[in-house]
Amino acid sequence: MSSNSRGIGVFDSGVGGLTVVKELRKILPQEKIVYFGDTARVPYGTKSKEAIIRFTMENVLFLLKQNVKLIVIACNTSSSLALPVIKKHFRIPIIGVILPGAKESVYATRNKRIGIIGTRATIASRAYEEEITKLEPRAKIISQSCPLFVPLVEEGWLGGDIVSSVAEQYLKPLKNFRVDTLILGCTHYPLLGKVIQEVMGKGVSLIDSSKQIAMEVKEILEEGSLLQKGKKAGENNLYCYVTDKPKIFKELGEKFLGERIKNIYEVK
Ligand code: DGL
Repeated sequence: MSSNSRGIGVFDSGVGGLTVVKELRKILPQEKIVYFGDTARVPYGTKSKEAIIRFTMENVLFLLKQNVKLIVIACNTSSSLALPVIKKHFRIPIIGVILPGAKESVYATRNKRIGIIGTRATIASRAYEEEITKLEPRAKIISQSCPLFVPLVEEGWLGGDIVSSVAEQYLKPLKNFRVDTLILGCTHYPLLGKVIQEVMGKGVSLIDSSKQIAMEVKEILEEGSLLQKGKKAGENNLYCYVTDKPKIFKELGEKFLGERIKNIYEVK
């Protein structure tokens, strides 16, 4: 197999990373994508740093066995806690979601007041704060974990009174802090984008780093002359591997992705 026809590996703790796959498929439709969703061990956001590093290492090794040419860690929790530790052990490019999100927030903010929402583990890691401060030392940052958002999305509750009231509670301190830019620091949150925008108000820019990540993947592949050329796009070049419940993954995943998932396999 030529190095260009190898796939792009993407992993997340579950189904949420398909928000990144969606953007990748828009700008790189000819590329094969190998997605790994660790549905048996989700959520990562409540686990210890040690566990998250171990799971991330295993996921990367799994994707390498699938002969991928680049890996995207779509999970914010793994990107913040494990990427800095594991990156040095591998030769292929491994991209996380923290730096692209931080960069985009710094471009977007006008009043330099930036909010971050994510899982407990991501927020506790302070990974976004570190990257933002390196890029813009004058930034004033507030962060908030929103642990109920992931189960709401996984239940398919993307709107309605209960979701709005949960969002109001979580986002109140960020509104009071007068952020003009809010990083959606978890793969599930873009699906709650409408509610979050309503609560925060129209003037606040929501940062979903998936577009930025897809652009970065394209740039890296271009620079390394690794782009797949001249192949037709289609459902057949997305391969999903999950560690549990492939049927539920397929149902929910098709909502995240907005297209059919044809190739799905359960792995142990
Ligand atoms: N994928 C995780 C993230 O982006 C959210 C779900 C989880 O807690 O595993 O942080």
